[in-house]
Amino acid sequence: MGKKGSVGDKLSIDELAAFCKRKGFVFSSSEIYGGLAGFWDLGPFGVELMSNIKQSWWSYFVHQQENMTGIDASIISHPKTWEASGHVSSFADVAAVCKKCKKATKIDKSEVGKLKCGCGGEYSVQGEFNLLFKTNVGALNPIQVYLRGETAQGMFLDFKQVAETARVKLPFGIAQIGKCFRNEIAPRDFLFRSREFTIGEFEFFIHPEEKKCSILEKKHLQLNVNLLDAETQEKKKDTLKEVSIEKMIKDKKLDEWHAYWLAEQILWFRVIGIADKVKIREHMMSELSHYSSATFDLDYEYPFGSKELGGNANRGQYDLTQHMKHSNQKLEIFDEATKQRVIPRVIEPTFGMERIFLAVLCNAYKYDERRQNIVLKIPAFLAPVKAAVLPIVKDRNMMKTAIGIYNVLKKDWLVEHDEGGSIGRRYSRNDELGTPMCIAVDEQSVKDKTVTLRDRDTTKQVRVKIEDISEVVRKVISGESLLKLGKIVETRVKEN
Ligand code: GAP
Repeated sequence: MGKKGSVGDKLSIDELAAFCKRKGFVFSSSEIYGGLAGFWDLGPFGVELMSNIKQSWWSYFVHQQENMTGIDASIISHPKTWEASGHVSSFADVAAVCKKCKKATKIDKSEVGKLKCGCGGEYSVQGEFNLLFKTNVGALNPIQVYLRGETAQGMFLDFKQVAETARVKLPFGIAQIGKCFRNEIAPRDFLFRSREFTIGEFEFFIHPEEKKCSILEKKHLQLNVNLLDAETQEKKKDTLKEVSIEKMIKDKKLDEWHAYWLAEQILWFRVIGIADKVKIREHMMSELSHYSSATFDLDYEYPFGSKELGGNANRGQYDLTQHMKHSNQKLEIFDEATKQRVIPRVIEPTFGMERIFLAVLCNAYKYDERRQNIVLKIPAFLAPVKAAVLPIVKDRNMMKTAIGIYNVLKKDWLVEHDEGGSIGRRYSRNDELGTPMCIAVDEQSVKDKTVTLRDRDTTKQVRVKIEDISEVVRKVISGESLLKLGKIVETRVKEN
């Protein structure tokens, strides 16, 4: 049997977790005490990958959009926030335990009495459990508060202040990436369902009567997506339909603004290289959240099944209206265009950052039979380490040249300098980390100030001048092929 990740062989979530631990991407939290279910730590390379994903998200959805601003709200807010939002009363899952295998799980309310465990056993329903974590604030007269279950509420609470200080006009959005907490009944599948995780989402505020989206372009309308619609699911089928965003609007599945943001989500998935494996699943009436009138899940084809990566909900005026009622504050806004005071309606695209992290890793993870090691074919701009500088042997002059190159590159990027072990082993270690290029310093480098740059995906090498390395690294990070940036050369180090 081939190694996992090779063609025709599926990578399991446990293998991915073992890989992430071995390579310093993800560790289970507080492992010396046996760990704590649903909590994870990002290791030295995981924190870099996650930071690159977040940066790409922020650049695409905040900086490159004309009408978007960002915030970073506190994790704990006034407890009335969660009463107003409906989370205290409605943010609950049904816990069930299989009578046969004793495994606990969460089930949908509509599934009570109908669903059986994967082992065939019947479920014993244990009741509904609210997902919000509770804690106390203050020492003498403590008040009970909640750790936020979503970042969205921060955007609603700050809506008025953002509108006033950022001088934005409707329509505009407020974005945030931050930690969220849910006391999941059955955390499982590694990072996929945890109790502490990161959401990147934005609330996009629109005049309530505005139906037209002025920034909807051909690239959005003509975007074809794989859709699992509500009608198909109601017939208990799972056939996908390839439809354009334009057709979804015509079929009244969503309005133009909703469609614009759904398309933008898919377009960002293209940027990070995972769009081909994403499908859109329309929520059936029975599963809509308490705040939504239309929701789409964005599901990624993980090797362990097609699962939710993000979503896109039409929250209407629900949240602002609720906060007005509970706070007695006016959260209307003056709309210059219509000269009206309005409570905007809201479209909310949301992304589970750890789930994107997993999708990027699954997409990249390949077992190379020839090299006999895993190669993480991660896009260069997301790769944790951008380049490794490697003197081919421990020679004083080569080591000095290598350090010189490392000192220049480290001012701009995370690069590694590694002198230990055989050059082949150092190449494989970097292949597994997804380092797009290895810079080998040899005898010739000392003489003519050139080095070879080895391409992670092909193992081919090009020779370039040391003075040009920074430019080459920059171009590779922006998506150019290393093999077009120098003369391809034969090397003495033969890789399996
Ligand atoms: N504000 C909308 C909202 O919170 P959600 O679908 O409940 O919507 C947003 O959560 C995203 O967070 C999901 O699409 C999913 O990717 C991610 N997510 C939800 N629960 C999670 C969990 N327990 N562990 C990791 N990610 C989770």
